[in-house]
Amino acid sequence: MDAAEKAARKAHQDELKQAAAEKALDWLTPGKVVGVGSGSTVAFFIEALGRRRKDFPQAVSSSLRSTELLREAGIEVLDLNQIDEIDCYVDGADEVDPGFALIKGGGGALTREKIVAQASRHFVCIVDESKYVPVLGQFPLPVEVVPMAMHLVGRQLEKLGGTVRERAGYITDNGNPILDVSGLQISDPVALEETINQWPGVVTNGIFARRRPETVLIAGMHGVQALGKDKA
Ligand code: 5RP
Repeated sequence: MDAAEKAARKAHQDELKQAAAEKALDWLTPGKVVGVGSGSTVAFFIEALGRRRKDFPQAVSSSLRSTELLREAGIEVLDLNQIDEIDCYVDGADEVDPGFALIKGGGGALTREKIVAQASRHFVCIVDESKYVPVLGQFPLPVEVVPMAMHLVGRQLEKLGGTVRERAGYITDNGNPILDVSGLQISDPVALEETINQWPGVVTNGIFARRRPETVLIAGMHGVQALGKDKA
């Protein structure tokens, strides 16, 4: 693919991401605190939220980058400890399977994303159609680890049959490295999420299956398809 083709493909994908992001506004209730994920699809969501900041003046953020974007958009960012429950959490994903289990963490914000998702009543996942897959695992699974456990956890991940790479030059908002594991066929996402979570030194893995979205908005050539629960 040459540079012009690459640019055209990115522009098309960005249009789809923006369409999914804007559709997510329909799931929000004016006046309630919004949970905000991270990544390029969410950046479009924050832009849309900014245009409606009178209706949605407050948010809880899942990354330092999203916090910065929210503040630039004129939205107050609350600490999760200040509130009991978030009404609706909106976030992207790297892969979504037909049962709505996800791989997340391509942008490295998986730990805070999982926390904010857990604190939310309704989780809306926004993706373009390239993210919808029959089985999770084509996208390398991110695992955030405590630095001293990196090799220990890496060896355990290899025993699962994966190829493990430390994400080069990257440290999460929590000060930890990420291992990216490729070559896994994740046919039982809940079981694998729980297994990896139990290993000492693992902070979070990027499978979101135990707390998965209630709604997935998939943008494609023919518009945005809403799967799962409608707005409650
Ligand atoms: C960040 C994430 C993102 O939601 C995921 O990587 C998708 O990103 P993008 O919207 O840029 O494709 O999990 O940790």
